[in-house]
This record gives sequence, structure tokens and C-alpha cells, in this order.
Amino acid sequence: MDVTQPWGEAPTPYEEIGGATAVRKVVDDFYDLVDAESPPLRAMLPRDDSTSREKLFEFLSGWLGGPRLYEEKRGHPRLRMRHLPFDIGRPEADEWMRCMQAALTDVAEPLQGYLVVRFRESADWMVNRPDPGVIVPTVT
Ligand code: HEM
Repeated sequence: MDVTQPWGEAPTPYEEIGGATAVRKVVDDFYDLVDAESPPLRAMLPRDDSTSREKLFEFLSGWLGGPRLYEEKRGHPRLRMRHLPFDIGRPEADEWMRCMQAALTDVAEPLQGYLVVRFRESADWMVNRPDPGVIVPTVT
């Protein structure tokens, strides 16, 4: 079959990756890496990160084209606004991406490359501490 979408053959990235089980695995791999390897990110999270994991799972489910679990349970994500309490500069966004990219290692191409680009765009959008001389958006 021809590949007709940038993420592969399935109608949505959610189906292409393998549905809820696969999304859950990416989230758990990501947070396991944050726990093990990234003290600066881990320090931003509550001691018990089970709710953080659940929220990211719910959000990614809808973001990938599957069930919109986050919106159903919690309303509009307003993600940039929800990240404003945290000090996120370029180094923190790069560190988040490093963990997420490692969590995506088992995802087949072209989906993996597609997701890396889309996560990168979102991570850049969360930056709220500008590098000296750089202007970042202030809208939420
Ligand atoms: C750029 C670096 C990022 C950092 C340092 C960061 C950090 C955080 C922190 C500390 C929380 C709070 C967790 C909690 O209250 O339990 C959070 C929540 C969340 N993050 Fe991020 N994040 C980043 C990027 C992203 C990206 C790119 C996405 C989505 C693609 C994302 C999705 C979420 C979601 C859905 C929540 C839950 C929001 C809520 O309902 O409170 N984050 N993030």
C-alpha cells in the first residue's frame, strides 16, 4: 500500500503507533527516563508523578488523533499557560526533547520522525524564559 500520510498508512498517528497501549508505553518510558536521568526536570514534578503520567497520556491520546481524553476530563489543555509556573528555557526544552526522543526509539519510521518534529514544535512553544536577546511569544 502507498504511504499517504506523513506518519504512515493508518488514518491517524494514534492508530499508526498502536493505540492506547503504545501511547501509554511512550509516556511511561518518557517519565522513567526523566526520573532516572534528568534531575532538573524531575525537580519540577510532584513526588508522586502518577497524575503527571496520566495527564500526558490523556493529552497525547487526543493530540495523536485518538480519543480526546484530556478535554473530556479536564477541559481545554491551554498547555502554554499551564507551563508558565515552571521555569522553561532552551536547556529545559532540549532536555525534555532528549527524554521524549529516547522514549520514541521503538516507534517505526516514518512515524517516529514525524513525532519528533511535532514534539519539537510543542516543546519550543513551552519556552517561557528567553535566552538573552531573544524575544519569545507572551500569549498563552
Ligand atoms: C519544554 C519542556 C517541558 C517541560 C519542562 C515540561 C514540564 C511540565 C511540568 C513540570 C508539568 C506539571 C506536571 C504535574 O503537575 O504533574 C507539565 C505538565 C504537562 N505537560 Fe509538560 N513540559 C514540557 C513540554 C511539554 C510538551 C511539549 C507537551 C506536549 C506535547 C507537554 C504536555 C504536558 C501536559 C499535557 C501536562 C499536564 C497539564 C495539566 O493538566 O496540568 N509538556 N509539564
